Amino acid sequence: MHIFSKKVDLSNHLKENNLDKSSVGFVPTMGALHAGHLSLLKKSIENNAATIISIFVNPTQFNNPEDLKKYPRTLESDVEKIKTISEKILVYAPTIEDIYEGNTKSEHYNFDGLENQMEGKFRPGHFDGVGTVVKRLFEIVNPTNAYFGEKDFQQLQIVKKLVEKEKLSVTIIGCPIFREKNGLAMSSRNERLSENEKKEASIIFKTLNEAKILFGTKSAKEVAKYVTKSFSNHPIFELEYFEIADEASLLTCKRKNKKKKYRAFIAVFVNKIRLIDTISLN
Ligand code: PAF
Repeated sequence: MHIFSKKVDLSNHLKENNLDKSSVGFVPTMGALHAGHLSLLKKSIENNAATIISIFVNPTQFNNPEDLKKYPRTLESDVEKIKTISEKILVYAPTIEDIYEGNTKSEHYNFDGLENQMEGKFRPGHFDGVGTVVKRLFEIVNPTNAYFGEKDFQQLQIVKKLVEKEKLSVTIIGCPIFREKNGLAMSSRNERLSENEKKEASIIFKTLNEAKILFGTKSAKEVAKYVTKSFSNHPIFELEYFEIADEASLLTCKRKNKKKKYRAFIAVFVNKIRLIDTISLN
């Protein structure tokens, strides 16, 4: 199994093995891998001659220093999980220096307003950090296809916009959310939850499903009111936002339009740990 911490070594390996001339699938991650990440790797293997996964906790996308400090870093067990899929997968686990070359700062991006909604509103600078690191990773890996989970649906739309605006030659493939048995969306941050918090977190997907049913007969505003009420006075969960938005523009749904596809988006805090989830409403 090849694990690279330097981009130059990864590039040399790709060239020496003629992999730079074949179809390369890429799965960018921040580690603490779960079944959702592994499904992205499986999809990449099915459709590409080579598969590369990056494991890099990107400092520039964290607006909260405590969140960055506490983000799980589990390289050894991540590598073991990757091996269960295939020993041929190439792992790029760089240092901050290898990515940022002494200037750990974000570029500023205009994603046509996608960056100003939801996660962008509540995590200022987050999508500049994501755009910066994803562009650098694409330059290093030069992938044919790149795989992203739909849990971070806004990120997925933003990465597609980045590719369009920067005219990058990579196809972005969105993949379905993986869930625990109780509906909790798989996330690296779940590693920080206690067993009780994990159990209670079923409220998030349960509420999204209720919102989906209600949206059949009620306005987006009425559904949002219901969700806010469901979380008010909850002993451990605090709602940060709930939004019903148009999938393409991510703008809040003011009046339903039959031609548009809508999605509900939610962010909650439990014991200072931030969890997000989303569901298609069509
Ligand atoms: O979704 C993630 O894990 C990260 O935002 C990404 C895309 C790897 C960029 O750091």
